Amino acid sequence: MRQKIAAGNWKMNGTAPALTELDALAAGLPATPPLVIVCPPAPLLIPAVDRASGIAIGAQDCHTAPSGAHTGDISAPMIADTGASFVIVGHSERREDHGETDAAVRAKAEAAQAAGLCPIVCIGESLSQRETGETLHVIGAQLAASLPETISAENTVVAYEPIWAIGTGKVPSVAQIAEVHDFIRAELENRYGPDVGAAVSLLYGGSVKPDNAAAIFEVDNVDGALVGGASLKAGDFLPIIAALA
Ligand code: G3P
Repeated sequence: MRQKIAAGNWKMNGTAPALTELDALAAGLPATPPLVIVCPPAPLLIPAVDRASGIAIGAQDCHTAPSGAHTGDISAPMIADTGASFVIVGHSERREDHGETDAAVRAKAEAAQAAGLCPIVCIGESLSQRETGETLHVIGAQLAASLPETISAENTVVAYEPIWAIGTGKVPSVAQIAEVHDFIRAELENRYGPDVGAAVSLLYGGSVKPDNAAAIFEVDNVDGALVGGASLKAGDFLPIIAALA
């Protein structure tokens, strides 16, 4: 049975008052919730860990090195030291804004694993790649180059986020989501063997909202969601969590 996960990526949103959303989330969780993860901006990691009840905390990025002369960066051991247990790596906004390559994403995922964190490794095609029929080729190449050589269900989560669906309100059809998630599952099984490949959780991300979450979660090989905008308010995130419970 794969772990179901509702992960919220707050991106560059939220100062201390936003932490009250964690209280509202904790108060509204269903009786048997999936694994709920909130990834706030780095300055909120420590207070979020202190405050969160029944909710795991994750960071949004980490450096590849454990320490060193990298002004402004945060290492995986530092994130682990806050008490956080997850870290998003390879989000398309990092790939685009900071020129992160698949090799860099893989190195970050490896650094996260080495620090005892579980990386949430993001992959996804652009609109032009989708329109020219390259989606599965792009996803296959990103998977091959972004994932560490060794993974397990406990130390790696994969998130499929089509770039054109992020923050746009445009959501792929369930058939399109199914096609990519089935493909990712097959690629994982080929590379890591049937047991590991079948056990790793695959999240969908991109304009997941309370009104479309249930239909997305019915898709085979969708084990949860990586939610952006709708994770900022407990009132929006809770119905998504409930749809997965
Ligand atoms: O990482 C989550 C994300 O990129 C999706 O954002 O706002 O479309 O849910 P959003």
